Amino acid sequence: MKNFKISAIQFSPAFGNLNGTISALKPLLKQASNSNLVVLPELANSGYNFKDFDEAYSFSEVPGKSIFVDFLITQCRQYGFSLVSGFNERCGDLIYNSALLINKNGIAGKYRKIQLFMNEKDYFTAGDKSPDLFEVAGAKIGILICFDWVFAELWNGLASKGADIICHPSNLVLPGKAQKAIPVWAMTNKIFIATANRIGTEGNLTFTGNSIIAAPSGEFLASASPDSTEIISAECDLTLARDKMITPKNHLFKDRRPELFD
Ligand code: ACM
Repeated sequence: MKNFKISAIQFSPAFGNLNGTISALKPLLKQASNSNLVVLPELANSGYNFKDFDEAYSFSEVPGKSIFVDFLITQCRQYGFSLVSGFNERCGDLIYNSALLINKNGIAGKYRKIQLFMNEKDYFTAGDKSPDLFEVAGAKIGILICFDWVFAELWNGLASKGADIICHPSNLVLPGKAQKAIPVWAMTNKIFIATANRIGTEGNLTFTGNSIIAAPSGEFLASASPDSTEIISAECDLTLARDKMITPKNHLFKDRRPELFD
């Protein structure tokens, strides 16, 4: 099968400063222009470490009226790729820690983070919908956000739906934890995972970089440094994610024993 090129952009969104973030992203997106799909970090339109709900709300945007989304759509039109980006989403009086799938035609999909981390619980409403699967250039794409990484059922659920690649916009702050687990989730679900983590410091939080693209074998296809702006890319042979045989006698899904659990 034709290879699918995925890139993850590791950078530091400008806190509460959309123009600053857009200026930082422009040259990076140009560099990633030969990708099928580009993944950006969590909450890329706002930054992360809010002092309270009002501040988080003031930096949120409605997807259909967003300067950030309009910018990303123009980039998809210019370069022909699709994008998955973390997005501080306003919906009436509520905000969600969301990620949007964007292409040249506009917003093609949305996921709202299910597992909120620490103070996110004070600002955001948790997603209450099972993650969807989306199609990008022949690949089946799922989305999870940052702390979702801890929860096996999210990876298993998307892999069972048929995900080839799970995009994982992140603002990870616990050093070396998710980055150890991601290749294991990739291996045990036989999927590709692209974790686009951010760098930089906001108040008492330092983000851990080390973005990763992991293969269904559990190998690293690409990895970034802990603290530099970087683009990592990999060619994904989707047939590797569609073959769920672990040995000639072991199938990843058919060998499951759900009857042994509640
Ligand atoms: C996180 O979920 N942003 C750690």
